[in-house]
Amino acid sequence: MAKQRIGILGGTFDPIHCGHIRMGLSVLDAGYVDRLLVMPSGNPPHKSCIVSAEDRWKMTVAACACDDRLVPSRLELDRSGRIYTFDTLTALRREYPKADLSYIIGADTLTQLRSWYRSDEVIRLCTFLVCPRPDGSESADYASEAARLTSAGARFLPVRMRPVSVSSTDIRSALSAGQKPDGLPLPVFEYCRCKGLYGCPGRIDAIDSWIDQLFKALKPSRFAHSLSVADTAKKLAEIHGADPLRAEQAGLLHDCAKYIPLEEMRRIAAKHNLTDDPAMLDSAALLHSIVGAWLAQDQYGMPDPEVLDAIRYHNTGFPGMSVLSMCVCLADSIEPLRKSYPLLDQVRALAEQSLERALLLSLEGTAEYVKSRGRYLHPRTRETIHWLRRLTGTAK
Ligand SMILES: [Fe+2]
Ligand SMILES: [Fe+2]
Repeated sequence: MAKQRIGILGGTFDPIHCGHIRMGLSVLDAGYVDRLLVMPSGNPPHKSCIVSAEDRWKMTVAACACDDRLVPSRLELDRSGRIYTFDTLTALRREYPKADLSYIIGADTLTQLRSWYRSDEVIRLCTFLVCPRPDGSESADYASEAARLTSAGARFLPVRMRPVSVSSTDIRSALSAGQKPDGLPLPVFEYCRCKGLYGCPGRIDAIDSWIDQLFKALKPSRFAHSLSVADTAKKLAEIHGADPLRAEQAGLLHDCAKYIPLEEMRRIAAKHNLTDDPAMLDSAALLHSIVGAWLAQDQYGMPDPEVLDAIRYHNTGFPGMSVLSMCVCLADSIEPLRKSYPLLDQVRALAEQSLERALLLSLEGTAEYVKSRGRYLHPRTRETIHWLRRLTGTAK
C-alpha cells in the first residue's frame, strides 16, 4: 500500500482567509500531499487570539468546505495547555506511524525555526513545505539558514505559488469598519458579519444559538452554503427594496431541516399539520422547506411570518410571493458557492436588474432540468412560473 502523505497547515486562523486556503490548495495541487489537515491552534504559545477557539473552528470548517482534500482538524483545539508544533507532530506520528508528514511554513518562518520548542526533533518529524513571502523576496539570511538546517537533517520543499498578500490584520480592520475585506472566503465573511466578530456592525440577535444549531445539524458544505445564501439574499434585498436583515435571517435558516430523515420529517409534518400534499410528503427535497419553516419557528425562535414564508417556499416559490421570498429563493440558486448549471451565468447577470425575471429564468431552468431527468415537477413551481411570466409580460 502506498504511504499516506499528510500535510499540516496550522495557524491561529483569526480569521482563516483566502491566503491560507490558497497555500493549502497549492500544496495539494503540487502533489506534495494527498490530504491536508487544516488545524486552528488552541492556545498558541506566542500569540493571543481575538475570537474564541470555537468560532475559529467553525470558520475553518466553513472555509474548508470548498475542497474535500482540505480536512479541518481539532487536534490542537482539543488538547489542554500550551501546544507546540512538536506536540502536534508527535501526536500525528503516533496516530499515523507510517505516514509522511509535511508541515507548511512561510519563508519568513524558516528563519525562526531554530527558536521553536524542541526544534531539533521537529525537523526530524516532518518535511517543511515552504511558501514564498508576501512580496516574493527572500530574507537576507534565508539561504544560509536553510543550508544550516538542511545539514542538521531538515528537509525543505518549495511551494510554487503566487505570493499571498492577504493579512489577517487588514481583514480585521476592514471588518471593524463595516467593510467587506478582500481575501476573506464568503462564508467566513458572513460568519463574522452575522456574529459581529472583530467589531463588525450588525450582529443578529440570537445568532450564537442559531449558529451552534446549524453547525450541528448541517454538513460543512451546507453550513457554508447557508452562510453564502444569507449574504446573497441580503444583497438582493438591498437592491430590490426588501428588508436586508430579514433576508439574511431567512437565508441562514432556509435549509435548517435539510438533513432530517424523510420519515422524521413526515412525522413532524403530520403532528403539526404542516401539509397533506402527498407529493410534498414523498420527497425530502421538497419537504425540508416546509419542515424547515416549522423548525425555524419552534426551535430557532423565529416569529416573523414573512421570514418563515421565505423559508417555506424557498425551493418551489409560490404565486404572489413577496419580494423577500423572491430574494431568498433566488439567492439559494445563485449564491457564489453554487455548482455551475446551464443558466447560472445568465440568472446571476439578471439578478441585479430584475428580481422577477431572474427568478423566472432560474425556475424555468429547474423545470427544464427536472423534465429532462424524467422527474416530478411540483405544481407550485409550475404555477409560480406562470405567475412570474404574467408579471414580467413574458407569458408564452
Ligand atoms: Fe433547500
Ligand atoms: Fe439551499
